[in-house]
Amino acid sequence: MTAEANPPDLIPAPRAVENGAGGGFAPDARTTLYAGAGTGSTERWLRSVVGPALGLPLPPGETENAENSLTLLVDDNLEPEAYRLEVVGGRGIEIRGGSGAGVFWGAQTLRQLLGADSFRRAPIGSGAVHDIPAQIIEDGPRFSWRGMMLDVSRHFTHKTDVMRYLDLLAAHKLNVFHFHLTDDQGWRIEIKRYPRLTEVGSWRSRTKWGHRFSELWDDKPYGGYYTQDDIREIVAYAAERHITVVPEIDVPGHSQAAIAAYPELGNTDVIDTASLSPWETWGINPNVLSPTDNTLRFYEGVLEEVLELFPVQTSPFIHIGGDECPKDQWKQSPTAQARIAELGVGDEDGLQSWIIRHFDTWLTARGRRLIGWDEILEGGLAPGAAVSSWRGYAAGIEAAEAGHDVVMCPEQHVYLDFRQDGGPDEPMPIGYIRTLEDVYRFEPVPPGLSPEAEAHIIGTQANVWTEVLQERSRIDYQVFPRLAAFAEVAWSRLPASPERDYADFERRMATHYRRLDALGVDYRPPGGPLPWQKRPGVTGFPREGAPPNV
Ligand code: ACM
Repeated sequence: MTAEANPPDLIPAPRAVENGAGGGFAPDARTTLYAGAGTGSTERWLRSVVGPALGLPLPPGETENAENSLTLLVDDNLEPEAYRLEVVGGRGIEIRGGSGAGVFWGAQTLRQLLGADSFRRAPIGSGAVHDIPAQIIEDGPRFSWRGMMLDVSRHFTHKTDVMRYLDLLAAHKLNVFHFHLTDDQGWRIEIKRYPRLTEVGSWRSRTKWGHRFSELWDDKPYGGYYTQDDIREIVAYAAERHITVVPEIDVPGHSQAAIAAYPELGNTDVIDTASLSPWETWGINPNVLSPTDNTLRFYEGVLEEVLELFPVQTSPFIHIGGDECPKDQWKQSPTAQARIAELGVGDEDGLQSWIIRHFDTWLTARGRRLIGWDEILEGGLAPGAAVSSWRGYAAGIEAAEAGHDVVMCPEQHVYLDFRQDGGPDEPMPIGYIRTLEDVYRFEPVPPGLSPEAEAHIIGTQANVWTEVLQERSRIDYQVFPRLAAFAEVAWSRLPASPERDYADFERRMATHYRRLDALGVDYRPPGGPLPWQKRPGVTGFPREGAPPNV
């Protein structure tokens, strides 16, 4: 086998690559795998995922760095998620990681070095691997929170496709999966003590096809939910890939599906909540939770089951939403007004803040940390709470300066449901144009922060809302290739734009598209949508011009 002519087109880019002396190394059917203490997840992954793609059985090795071997070692001298991968010409490959996670990220790099066919499920052709040139790669992440949010409420992602996405996150060294489980249009997690949440709340009789301004409907009943065992399976699958799952139970807005199931959760003194069903269209919904003790106890019951399903080791954060809660019903509701007076919280914003603080106290007492959308800052926030800064940078800056941890996910930059080109062929186009290059140039840390505040920007996340993403291929189209650019933003220690070398990224993407092809990802091709990726005639809601810099 011949050595690869070009340096490895790694995505995300590593910190440093140094060429080694001598020839390369190509694993073959006799190559052994030695897995040191704490590297079991990577050992299992290499043997069950990468080995079968290339026809490599990877039998267990007896010693470190034996002739013709792969060696996995935890090395405390490295940062927890950092790794050092060395290809020793003619001999083998050693991956050292600061923890099991670091070793796993190193193995993701190894897969890229092995070539695009290692991203398949079974060998094509001979399965022989090309020589990997002798080299040393030293690498580690810029941010500890490198996330993607998937909305499974507006459109449901089957558990097998959720796990496929966990694999896609892992392949891009992303380590947080924010699981948006509840919204007006569907409740997607089984809660044993409240069976109607899924019996009633998990399906709707029809669905708006396109943006809410579209005239079109899909007239089929639509639904789906995860059983508690499905959730356990997803959480375990994520943990095996060193991915943290952040479940989101959205309160007090975005709750119509829950109210449809249990009408007493809504403002019964304002509207006939018993007439509600899970919402069939999109937008900001006026039907919000009532601020009663009954509602609080109900959601504590939900969260008790959520905490059991998402253990603290892999889900230290619980997301409680807090976004887009219109206050009209509370203004009209004698019950809500009495509550405002009784609590002395001033007005409806104070009431919302009080609800969020209630759950912050409740979660903190149970060893978890609350995270919410940036509206939770309004009216003051408890000290340990963290913020997903989505309406722009401003709330994140304010939160970080006030000492809160912040995940930067401004909609102007990293909402991947937004269209990725200005042309007429983008399917169901919504939002600002956010090209691959725009995402590549996104900088999560705004200028001018104090050093203390900068340390509170714990990371960044791309958000995938699914109102106009009806199925897996639509999600793939919106998410890829932009998630590859996002991964580089989140992982690689690159200087802030404009110094980021987009031309080099584009060059590396030529190789990365072959990996995505092998994985079966329906990405947007650089030349625009393929005929079956278009959705002609469906009204979207494109926003014109550059996004405001907020
Ligand atoms: C959001 O986009 N409503 C968080």
